[in-house]
Amino acid sequence: MKKVRVAIVGMGIGRVNGRALASNPRAEVVALCDLVEESMTEFAARLPQPDEIRLYTDFDELCRSREIDAIFIGAPNQLHVPMGLKAIAHDKHVLVTKPLADSVEAAERLVEAAEAAGVVNMMSLSTRYSAEVQYLGTLARLGTFGELYYARARSIRRNGIPDWNTGFIRKGGGAFRDMGVHVLDSAWWMLGMPRPLSVTGVAGAKFGPRGLGFFEREAPEEVVSAPESYYGQFAADDYAGGFIRFEEGRALQVESFWASHQPAGLQIELFGEEAGAQLRPPTLYTNGPVPAAVADAAKEFGAKPQAGRGLKDEGRPLDITFDGLTRDRSKDWNAIADHFIACILDGVPCDAPLRHGLIVQAMMEGLLRSAETGEEVRLDG
Ligand SMILES: NC(=O)c1ccc[n+]([C@@H]2O[C@H](COP(=O)([O-])OP(=O)(O)OC[C@H]3O[C@@H](n4cnc5c(N)ncnc54)[C@H](O)[C@@H]3O)[C@@H](O)[C@H]2O)c1
Repeated sequence: MKKVRVAIVGMGIGRVNGRALASNPRAEVVALCDLVEESMTEFAARLPQPDEIRLYTDFDELCRSREIDAIFIGAPNQLHVPMGLKAIAHDKHVLVTKPLADSVEAAERLVEAAEAAGVVNMMSLSTRYSAEVQYLGTLARLGTFGELYYARARSIRRNGIPDWNTGFIRKGGGAFRDMGVHVLDSAWWMLGMPRPLSVTGVAGAKFGPRGLGFFEREAPEEVVSAPESYYGQFAADDYAGGFIRFEEGRALQVESFWASHQPAGLQIELFGEEAGAQLRPPTLYTNGPVPAAVADAAKEFGAKPQAGRGLKDEGRPLDITFDGLTRDRSKDWNAIADHFIACILDGVPCDAPLRHGLIVQAMMEGLLRSAETGEEVRLDG
Protein backbone atom coordinates (compact mmCIF):
# COMPACT_ATOMS: atom_id res chain seq x y z
CA MET A 1 0.00 0.00 0.00
CA LYS A 2 1.30 3.45 -0.88
CA LYS A 3 1.91 5.53 2.22
CA VAL A 4 2.23 9.31 2.41
CA ARG A 5 5.61 10.20 3.95
CA VAL A 6 5.00 13.14 6.26
CA ALA A 7 7.30 15.62 8.01
CA ILE A 8 6.18 17.50 11.13
CA VAL A 9 7.49 21.01 11.75
CA GLY A 10 7.23 22.58 15.24
CA MET A 11 7.23 20.39 18.35
CA GLY A 12 4.38 22.28 20.05
CA ILE A 13 1.14 21.79 18.13
CA GLY A 14 3.11 19.50 15.79
CA ARG A 15 2.82 16.77 18.40
CA VAL A 16 -0.96 16.32 18.26
CA ASN A 17 -0.99 16.64 14.48
CA GLY A 18 1.99 14.26 14.23
CA ARG A 19 0.34 11.65 16.46
CA ALA A 20 -2.85 11.84 14.40
CA LEU A 21 -0.98 11.49 11.10
CA ALA A 22 1.08 8.60 12.47
CA SER A 23 -2.13 6.80 13.49
CA ASN A 24 -3.43 6.81 9.90
CA PRO A 25 -2.51 3.45 8.32
CA ARG A 26 -1.82 5.15 4.99
CA ALA A 27 0.65 7.70 6.40
CA GLU A 28 4.01 7.55 8.15
CA VAL A 29 5.88 10.28 9.96
CA VAL A 30 9.37 10.09 8.49
CA ALA A 31 10.86 13.41 9.63
CA LEU A 32 10.63 16.05 12.34
CA CYS A 33 11.88 19.63 12.26
CA ASP A 34 12.45 22.05 15.14
CA LEU A 35 15.17 24.38 16.37
CA VAL A 36 15.40 22.37 19.59
CA GLU A 37 16.87 18.94 18.99
CA GLU A 38 15.85 17.43 22.35
CA SER A 39 12.18 18.19 21.67
CA MET A 40 12.41 16.20 18.46
CA THR A 41 14.23 13.26 20.07
CA GLU A 42 11.71 13.15 22.87
CA PHE A 43 8.72 13.27 20.51
CA ALA A 44 10.22 10.79 18.01
CA ALA A 45 10.45 8.22 20.81
CA ARG A 46 6.64 8.31 21.11
CA LEU A 47 6.07 7.60 17.41
CA PRO A 48 6.15 4.30 15.53
CA GLN A 49 9.65 3.34 14.30
CA PRO A 50 11.52 6.19 16.01
CA ASP A 51 14.88 5.05 14.63
CA GLU A 52 13.69 5.60 11.08
CA ILE A 53 12.64 9.22 11.72
CA ARG A 54 15.06 11.88 10.46
CA LEU A 55 15.50 15.01 12.56
CA TYR A 56 16.13 18.41 10.95
CA THR A 57 16.98 21.73 12.56
CA ASP A 58 17.13 23.34 9.10
CA PHE A 59 13.77 23.64 7.33
CA ASP A 60 15.40 24.26 3.91
CA GLU A 61 17.26 20.97 4.16
CA LEU A 62 14.03 19.19 5.08
CA CYS A 63 12.34 20.62 1.98
CA ARG A 64 15.13 19.32 -0.25
CA SER A 65 14.59 15.72 0.86
CA ARG A 66 13.02 13.52 -1.81
CA GLU A 67 11.86 11.13 0.90
CA ILE A 68 9.09 13.47 2.02
CA ASP A 69 5.70 13.90 0.30
CA ALA A 70 3.87 16.20 2.71
CA ILE A 71 4.69 18.70 5.47
CA PHE A 72 2.68 19.78 8.51
CA ILE A 73 3.66 23.36 9.38
CA GLY A 74 3.23 24.13 13.09
CA ALA A 75 5.91 26.78 13.67
CA PRO A 76 4.99 30.27 15.01
CA ASN A 77 2.51 32.36 12.96
CA GLN A 78 5.00 34.54 11.09
CA LEU A 79 6.77 31.43 9.69
CA HIS A 80 3.72 29.72 8.17
CA VAL A 81 3.94 31.58 4.87
CA PRO A 82 7.72 31.55 4.29
CA MET A 83 7.81 27.85 5.19
CA GLY A 84 4.71 27.07 3.14
CA LEU A 85 6.18 28.80 0.06
CA LYS A 86 9.40 26.78 0.32
CA ALA A 87 7.55 23.50 0.84
CA ILE A 88 5.35 24.15 -2.20
CA ALA A 89 8.37 25.14 -4.31
CA HIS A 90 9.65 21.61 -3.58
CA ASP A 91 6.30 20.14 -4.60
CA LYS A 92 5.24 19.03 -1.12
CA HIS A 93 1.63 18.84 -0.01
CA VAL A 94 1.04 21.16 2.96
CA LEU A 95 -1.10 21.06 6.09
CA VAL A 96 -0.85 24.40 7.92
CA THR A 97 -1.91 25.24 11.47
CA LYS A 98 -4.05 28.30 12.19
CA PRO A 99 -3.85 31.21 11.62
CA LEU A 100 -2.78 30.85 8.00
CA ALA A 101 -0.48 33.88 8.22
CA ASP A 102 0.32 37.07 10.09
CA SER A 103 -1.15 39.32 7.38
CA VAL A 104 -3.64 39.11 4.50
CA GLU A 105 -0.94 39.89 1.92
CA ALA A 106 1.23 37.00 3.11
CA ALA A 107 -1.79 34.65 3.20
CA GLU A 108 -2.65 35.64 -0.38
CA ARG A 109 0.88 34.86 -1.61
CA LEU A 110 0.75 31.39 -0.10
CA VAL A 111 -2.71 30.53 -1.42
CA GLU A 112 -1.80 31.66 -4.93
CA ALA A 113 1.42 29.62 -4.90
CA ALA A 114 -0.31 26.51 -3.54
CA GLU A 115 -3.13 26.66 -6.07
CA ALA A 116 -0.74 27.29 -8.96
CA ALA A 117 1.45 24.34 -7.91
CA GLY A 118 -1.57 22.03 -7.66
CA VAL A 119 -0.44 20.47 -4.37
CA VAL A 120 -2.96 19.46 -1.69
CA ASN A 121 -3.15 22.44 0.65
CA MET A 122 -5.18 22.28 3.83
CA MET A 123 -5.71 24.15 7.09
CA SER A 124 -5.47 22.14 10.32
CA LEU A 125 -8.58 23.39 12.15
CA SER A 126 -9.31 21.50 15.35
CA THR A 127 -12.53 23.36 16.19
CA ARG A 128 -14.02 23.07 12.69
CA TYR A 129 -13.26 19.32 12.69
CA SER A 130 -14.80 18.74 16.14
CA ALA A 131 -17.84 16.43 16.11
CA GLU A 132 -20.19 19.16 17.37
CA VAL A 133 -19.26 21.63 14.63
CA GLN A 134 -19.33 18.94 11.95
CA TYR A 135 -22.74 17.71 13.08
CA LEU A 136 -24.37 21.15 13.27
CA GLY A 137 -22.73 22.02 9.94
CA THR A 138 -24.25 18.86 8.45
CA LEU A 139 -27.69 19.88 9.73
CA ALA A 140 -27.20 23.32 8.22
CA ARG A 141 -26.38 21.76 4.82
CA LEU A 142 -29.50 19.55 5.14
CA GLY A 143 -31.63 22.66 5.63
CA THR A 144 -32.68 21.91 9.24
CA PHE A 145 -32.22 25.56 10.26
CA GLY A 146 -33.93 27.01 7.21
CA GLU A 147 -32.14 30.26 6.44
CA LEU A 148 -29.29 30.82 8.93
CA TYR A 149 -29.27 34.58 9.30
CA TYR A 150 -27.25 35.33 12.45
CA ALA A 151 -24.58 33.78 14.66
CA ARG A 152 -22.69 34.58 17.85
CA ALA A 153 -19.29 33.06 18.55
CA ARG A 154 -17.00 33.51 21.51
CA SER A 155 -13.90 32.01 22.99
CA ILE A 156 -13.12 33.20 26.50
CA ARG A 157 -10.34 32.38 28.94
CA ARG A 158 -9.98 33.60 32.47
CA ASN A 159 -6.18 33.42 32.66
CA GLY A 160 -5.05 32.13 29.30
CA ILE A 161 -2.24 34.26 27.86
CA PRO A 162 0.57 31.92 26.68
CA ASP A 163 3.79 32.58 28.58
CA TRP A 164 6.20 30.51 26.47
CA ASN A 165 6.73 32.21 23.13
CA THR A 166 6.97 35.94 22.43
CA GLY A 167 5.52 35.24 18.97
CA PHE A 168 2.14 35.05 20.73
CA ILE A 169 2.29 38.46 22.40
CA ARG A 170 4.11 40.46 19.73
CA LYS A 171 2.62 42.01 16.60
CA GLY A 172 1.20 39.22 14.43
CA GLY A 173 0.13 37.24 17.51
CA GLY A 174 -2.63 38.07 20.00
CA ALA A 175 -5.83 36.54 21.30
CA PHE A 176 -7.81 36.90 18.11
CA ARG A 177 -5.27 35.21 15.85
CA ASP A 178 -4.82 32.52 18.52
CA MET A 179 -8.36 31.64 19.62
CA GLY A 180 -10.82 34.06 17.96
CA VAL A 181 -9.75 32.54 14.65
CA HIS A 182 -11.16 29.11 15.63
CA VAL A 183 -14.68 30.28 16.49
CA LEU A 184 -14.71 32.74 13.60
CA ASP A 185 -13.78 29.97 11.15
CA SER A 186 -16.27 27.48 12.59
CA ALA A 187 -19.18 29.90 12.75
CA TRP A 188 -18.48 31.13 9.20
CA TRP A 189 -18.28 27.51 8.00
CA MET A 190 -21.56 26.57 9.71
CA LEU A 191 -23.24 29.63 8.18
CA GLY A 192 -22.33 28.19 4.77
CA MET A 193 -19.21 30.34 4.20
CA PRO A 194 -21.05 33.48 3.07
CA ARG A 195 -19.09 36.27 1.38
CA PRO A 196 -18.05 38.89 3.98
CA LEU A 197 -18.92 42.50 3.14
CA SER A 198 -17.65 44.53 6.10
CA VAL A 199 -16.39 44.30 9.65
CA THR A 200 -16.21 46.59 12.63
CA GLY A 201 -14.32 45.75 15.80
CA VAL A 202 -12.64 46.72 19.03
CA ALA A 203 -9.47 45.21 20.48
CA GLY A 204 -7.02 45.97 23.24
CA ALA A 205 -4.78 44.58 25.93
CA LYS A 206 -6.07 44.94 29.49
CA PHE A 207 -4.24 42.11 31.30
CA GLY A 208 -1.09 41.14 29.37
CA PRO A 209 0.85 44.43 29.59
CA ARG A 210 0.28 44.40 33.38
CA GLY A 211 1.80 40.91 33.66
CA LEU A 212 -1.61 39.44 34.55
CA GLY A 213 -3.62 36.56 33.11
CA PHE A 214 -0.75 34.35 31.91
CA PHE A 215 -0.66 30.55 31.93
CA GLU A 216 2.03 28.00 31.28
CA ARG A 217 1.40 25.03 29.05
CA GLU A 218 2.58 22.46 31.55
CA ALA A 219 0.09 23.66 34.16
CA PRO A 220 -2.87 25.23 32.35
CA GLU A 221 -5.00 25.48 35.51
CA GLU A 222 -2.37 27.51 37.38
CA VAL A 223 -2.24 31.29 37.26
CA VAL A 224 1.39 32.20 36.65
CA SER A 225 3.25 35.49 36.71
CA ALA A 226 5.21 36.07 33.54
CA PRO A 227 8.53 37.90 33.98
CA GLU A 228 8.64 41.59 33.04
CA SER A 229 11.21 40.74 30.33
CA TYR A 230 8.43 38.71 28.67
CA TYR A 231 5.28 40.73 29.23
CA GLY A 232 7.16 44.00 28.63
CA GLN A 233 7.12 43.04 24.93
CA PHE A 234 3.31 42.83 24.82
CA ALA A 235 2.18 44.46 21.55
CA ALA A 236 -0.85 42.35 20.61
CA ASP A 237 -4.52 42.22 21.59
CA ASP A 238 -5.56 40.21 24.64
CA TYR A 239 -9.21 40.72 23.77
CA ALA A 240 -11.13 41.59 20.62
CA GLY A 241 -14.74 41.68 19.57
CA GLY A 242 -16.47 42.57 16.36
CA PHE A 243 -19.38 42.38 14.02
CA ILE A 244 -19.15 40.99 10.49
CA ARG A 245 -21.77 41.62 7.83
CA PHE A 246 -22.16 39.02 5.07
CA GLU A 247 -23.99 38.96 1.77
CA GLU A 248 -27.77 38.52 1.94
CA GLY A 249 -28.07 40.31 5.28
CA ARG A 250 -26.42 37.61 7.39
CA ALA A 251 -24.18 38.59 10.31
CA LEU A 252 -21.80 37.26 12.96
CA GLN A 253 -20.86 38.68 16.33
CA VAL A 254 -17.48 37.28 17.41
CA GLU A 255 -15.35 37.70 20.55
CA SER A 256 -12.14 36.36 22.00
CA PHE A 257 -10.57 37.00 25.41
CA TRP A 258 -7.20 35.55 26.43
CA ALA A 259 -7.86 36.81 29.96
CA SER A 260 -10.99 38.21 31.59
CA HIS A 261 -13.12 38.27 34.71
CA GLN A 262 -15.68 35.99 33.10
CA PRO A 263 -16.20 32.22 33.12
CA ALA A 264 -14.05 30.48 30.51
CA GLY A 265 -15.73 28.82 27.56
CA LEU A 266 -16.09 28.39 23.84
CA GLN A 267 -19.57 28.87 22.42
CA ILE A 268 -21.24 29.32 19.06
CA GLU A 269 -24.94 30.09 18.71
CA LEU A 270 -26.80 29.84 15.43
CA PHE A 271 -30.06 31.61 14.62
CA GLY A 272 -32.10 30.12 11.78
CA GLU A 273 -35.65 30.62 10.52
CA GLU A 274 -36.69 27.03 11.31
CA ALA A 275 -34.26 26.14 14.12
CA GLY A 276 -31.38 27.47 16.17
CA ALA A 277 -28.51 25.76 17.97
CA GLN A 278 -25.74 26.12 20.47
CA LEU A 279 -22.44 24.28 20.21
CA ARG A 280 -21.62 23.33 23.82
CA PRO A 281 -23.33 21.30 25.01
CA PRO A 282 -24.70 20.66 21.54
CA THR A 283 -28.38 21.62 21.56
CA LEU A 284 -30.90 22.22 18.82
CA TYR A 285 -33.83 24.58 19.45
CA THR A 286 -36.83 24.11 17.22
CA ASN A 287 -40.51 23.33 17.25
CA GLY A 288 -41.57 19.70 17.75
CA PRO A 289 -41.58 16.97 16.68
CA VAL A 290 -37.88 16.05 16.16
CA PRO A 291 -37.14 16.52 12.45
CA ALA A 292 -36.29 13.15 10.81
CA ALA A 293 -33.07 14.53 9.28
CA VAL A 294 -31.75 15.33 12.76
CA ALA A 295 -32.00 11.72 13.93
CA ASP A 296 -30.71 10.28 10.64
CA ALA A 297 -27.67 12.55 10.56
CA ALA A 298 -26.99 11.91 14.26
CA LYS A 299 -26.58 8.17 13.59
CA GLU A 300 -23.59 8.93 11.36
CA PHE A 301 -21.93 10.67 14.31
CA GLY A 302 -22.83 7.91 16.79
CA ALA A 303 -25.08 10.35 18.66
CA LYS A 304 -28.62 9.99 19.96
CA PRO A 305 -30.98 12.99 19.95
CA GLN A 306 -32.79 13.44 23.28
CA ALA A 307 -35.89 15.60 23.42
CA GLY A 308 -35.25 17.62 26.55
CA ARG A 309 -36.99 20.61 28.05
CA GLY A 310 -40.11 21.66 26.22
CA LEU A 311 -43.13 20.03 24.69
CA LYS A 312 -42.91 17.33 22.08
CA ASP A 313 -46.14 18.32 20.36
CA GLU A 314 -46.24 19.54 16.82
CA GLY A 315 -45.34 23.19 16.61
CA ARG A 316 -44.34 23.65 20.29
CA PRO A 317 -40.86 24.65 21.47
CA LEU A 318 -38.50 21.70 21.71
CA ASP A 319 -34.88 21.50 22.88
CA ILE A 320 -32.87 18.56 21.57
CA THR A 321 -29.57 17.53 23.12
CA PHE A 322 -27.27 14.84 21.77
CA ASP A 323 -25.96 12.00 23.89
CA GLY A 324 -22.61 10.76 22.70
CA LEU A 325 -21.89 13.58 20.28
CA THR A 326 -18.97 15.18 22.09
CA ARG A 327 -16.10 12.84 21.31
CA ASP A 328 -12.61 12.40 22.61
CA ARG A 329 -10.71 15.46 21.26
CA SER A 330 -7.96 13.27 19.78
CA LYS A 331 -10.55 12.14 17.23
CA ASP A 332 -10.83 15.74 16.00
CA TRP A 333 -7.12 15.67 15.11
CA ASN A 334 -7.58 12.24 13.49
CA ALA A 335 -10.39 13.66 11.36
CA ILE A 336 -8.03 16.37 10.07
CA ALA A 337 -5.19 13.91 9.41
CA ASP A 338 -7.46 11.37 7.70
CA HIS A 339 -8.96 13.99 5.41
CA PHE A 340 -5.51 15.33 4.44
CA ILE A 341 -4.31 11.84 3.55
CA ALA A 342 -7.52 11.08 1.61
CA CYS A 343 -7.04 14.29 -0.41
CA ILE A 344 -3.51 13.19 -1.33
CA LEU A 345 -4.10 9.50 -2.04
CA ASP A 346 -7.72 9.41 -3.22
CA GLY A 347 -8.02 12.85 -4.82
CA VAL A 348 -10.90 13.78 -2.47
CA PRO A 349 -11.62 17.54 -2.79
CA CYS A 350 -10.24 19.37 0.23
CA ASP A 351 -12.87 20.55 2.76
CA ALA A 352 -10.59 23.12 4.35
CA PRO A 353 -8.23 24.52 1.70
CA LEU A 354 -5.81 27.33 2.53
CA ARG A 355 -8.19 29.64 0.62
CA HIS A 356 -10.62 29.30 3.55
CA GLY A 357 -7.76 30.37 5.82
CA LEU A 358 -7.23 33.42 3.61
CA ILE A 359 -10.89 34.53 3.82
CA VAL A 360 -10.85 34.07 7.61
CA GLN A 361 -7.57 36.02 7.75
CA ALA A 362 -9.19 38.88 5.81
CA MET A 363 -12.10 39.04 8.30
CA MET A 364 -9.72 38.81 11.24
CA GLU A 365 -7.25 41.45 10.01
CA GLY A 366 -10.18 43.70 9.03
CA LEU A 367 -11.57 43.44 12.58
CA LEU A 368 -8.20 44.30 14.10
CA ARG A 369 -7.66 47.17 11.65
CA SER A 370 -11.11 48.52 12.44
CA ALA A 371 -10.16 48.44 16.13
CA GLU A 372 -7.12 50.61 15.34
CA THR A 373 -8.84 53.13 13.09
CA GLY A 374 -12.26 53.22 14.75
CA GLU A 375 -13.82 52.83 11.30
CA GLU A 376 -15.74 50.03 9.64
CA VAL A 377 -13.55 48.09 7.16
CA ARG A 378 -14.98 46.99 3.81
CA LEU A 379 -14.06 43.46 2.75
CA ASP A 380 -15.83 43.31 -0.59
CA GLY A 381 -13.33 45.46 -2.50
N1 LIG B 1 -5.69 24.13 18.09
C1 LIG B 1 -4.77 24.48 17.24
O1 LIG B 1 -4.92 24.27 16.06
C2 LIG B 1 -3.50 25.15 17.77
C3 LIG B 1 -3.19 25.12 19.13
C4 LIG B 1 -1.99 25.70 19.56
C5 LIG B 1 -1.16 26.34 18.64
N2 LIG B 1 -1.51 26.40 17.32
C6 LIG B 1 -0.64 27.12 16.35
O2 LIG B 1 0.62 26.47 16.27
C7 LIG B 1 1.64 27.43 16.07
C8 LIG B 1 2.72 27.21 17.10
O3 LIG B 1 2.14 27.32 18.37
P1 LIG B 1 2.64 26.39 19.58
O4 LIG B 1 1.68 26.59 20.69
O5 LIG B 1 2.87 25.03 19.09
O6 LIG B 1 4.01 27.13 19.89
P2 LIG B 1 5.33 26.53 20.52
O7 LIG B 1 6.21 27.67 20.80
O8 LIG B 1 4.99 25.58 21.59
O9 LIG B 1 5.95 25.63 19.34
C9 LIG B 1 6.52 26.16 18.20
C10 LIG B 1 7.72 25.31 17.86
O10 LIG B 1 8.26 25.77 16.62
C11 LIG B 1 9.67 25.71 16.72
N3 LIG B 1 10.27 26.62 15.76
C12 LIG B 1 10.38 27.97 15.85
N4 LIG B 1 11.05 28.44 14.76
C13 LIG B 1 11.35 27.36 13.99
C14 LIG B 1 12.06 27.21 12.77
N5 LIG B 1 12.55 28.26 12.11
N6 LIG B 1 12.19 25.97 12.26
C15 LIG B 1 11.70 24.89 12.93
N7 LIG B 1 11.03 24.98 14.10
C16 LIG B 1 10.85 26.21 14.62
C17 LIG B 1 9.97 26.09 18.16
O11 LIG B 1 11.24 25.64 18.57
C18 LIG B 1 8.85 25.40 18.91
O12 LIG B 1 9.20 24.09 19.33
C19 LIG B 1 0.99 28.80 16.13
O13 LIG B 1 0.79 29.28 14.83
C20 LIG B 1 -0.35 28.53 16.80
O14 LIG B 1 -1.36 29.43 16.37
C21 LIG B 1 -2.64 25.78 16.87
